[in-house]
Amino acid sequence: MSTSTHSPGHHDPHAHEAKRRGAFSSRRVFILAAIGSAVGLGNIWRFPYVAYENGGGAFIVPYLVALLCAGMPFLLLDYAMGHKHRGSAPLSFARQARGSEPLGWWQVGICFMIAIYYAAIIAYALRYTLFSVDQAWGSKPDAFFFEEFLQVSDPGVTADVVAGVLVPLIIVWAAVLLIMALGVQKGIGATAVVFIPLLVIAFGALVVRSLFLPGAGEGLDALFTPDWSALLDANVWAAALGQIFFSLSVGFGIMITYASYVGRKTDMTGSGFVVGFANSGFELLAGIGVFAALGFMAQASGKAVEDVVANGIGLAFVAFPAIISEAPGGAFIGVLFFGSLVIAGLTSLVSVIEVVISAVRDKFELSRQVAVAVVGVPAALLSLVLFSTTSGLHVLDIVDNFINRFGILLVAVVAMVILAWLLRALPGLAEHLNHHGSIRLGLPWYVLVGFVAPVGLALVLVKDFIDTVADGYGTYPSWMQFTFGWGAAGLVIVFAVVATLVPWHRSVSLAPGGESPPGARVRDREEESR
Ligand code: ALA
Repeated sequence: MSTSTHSPGHHDPHAHEAKRRGAFSSRRVFILAAIGSAVGLGNIWRFPYVAYENGGGAFIVPYLVALLCAGMPFLLLDYAMGHKHRGSAPLSFARQARGSEPLGWWQVGICFMIAIYYAAIIAYALRYTLFSVDQAWGSKPDAFFFEEFLQVSDPGVTADVVAGVLVPLIIVWAAVLLIMALGVQKGIGATAVVFIPLLVIAFGALVVRSLFLPGAGEGLDALFTPDWSALLDANVWAAALGQIFFSLSVGFGIMITYASYVGRKTDMTGSGFVVGFANSGFELLAGIGVFAALGFMAQASGKAVEDVVANGIGLAFVAFPAIISEAPGGAFIGVLFFGSLVIAGLTSLVSVIEVVISAVRDKFELSRQVAVAVVGVPAALLSLVLFSTTSGLHVLDIVDNFINRFGILLVAVVAMVILAWLLRALPGLAEHLNHHGSIRLGLPWYVLVGFVAPVGLALVLVKDFIDTVADGYGTYPSWMQFTFGWGAAGLVIVFAVVATLVPWHRSVSLAPGGESPPGARVRDREEESR
């Protein structure tokens, strides 16, 4: 196993670069940070319900196909881009080919959008960790969550602030920005080193506890009983792809950014497989834990499992509180569950916001602290304004839905097509990873990244687009869907174009790999095209 080494030395440009941009101190820290990014709300809060909704045990088939044919190959593409070009998403794309820079900014815009609502869900979980201690939701967790805690308004936008959300949301942002200001190793890396083992212990304990609850077996039966007809449903395949991309943190630019902080001689392909399988393993564990608990709830309330399952937000904040109230030692289960959500969410949120911070740093050559302020303050304020009000949940639901499909998945297809077909970049990127990689990339990877994954994603997206245009999303008024749905997805594309037009700081090299010798800095377009 090769490790990241930045040999100190006065004349070593690599050591200098690592010092300037920040770097993970070892491959182990990078892997923990990448797992921290991947394992998040998507694993604990989203996966169990998505799997249950889409064929239960049969969902494993599209899930594995999506993982192996699209998620993992794309993860390695992200790694190759960041590791070879040693830059944030926009800088890596610009170094690959000047014309592809907007793809990086598109990802930056997506991350900004995700960060501002993702923080709100962590804030809910933080509050619920405390609520668990005395089961503040009483006998009606449903009404408590929507009416008492969030005070959800009718669809629309309000300026009525909910103090119960505002305060934990401020705490979440303060913690995240502190971590970001501490830097790549001391902030992001150290957080992962401390929190990922803690998460494994807390969540492991929760799963074991759930498996011993009466009725757990029925819950697992409900989750794993396969409905094979689901395999013929295009929506199930779409759900699998969406789940994999969100959960693996691919298509956000996160893995490009993290890979740029890893020593040059690191085995990136082997690392990718460790991260991918750790993420899916955790997801499966979450499914088992959550459904064992739901089985208990069904038995305790004399209902069928399908009647106690709630979707998305409801599963975590409505079904789980009900379980906590019923189960012996409920407070313990509650603190473990919501505490795990907070930890998993936090280590993902830092990765999402780092995409934006590193891009702004690279573009303008800012110090980390200044970039954290320039990015973090507006992000936190916008997050507070939009999501701590009584209409926050509506906006969150719409942005989450649109930005995942017409943001993450769309930019992934476009990036794969441009890199594979227009720029013919795959052989060069594979060669880069193969240099130190323990798993060789060759023809199968080209076929997956250049053909199978983009075609599969494109089919899913076209169908999704047609359905959403025809039927809209949920029951929200169309002006809300246009503003926070299509508007948000469109805005990040406009942002991408505008940000590309802003010139790079004159000291930034746009040569592939950033390798041009000092003094031969290629800066502006005119110079390059001459
Ligand atoms: N990968 C992160 C999650 O699953 C974003 O929540």
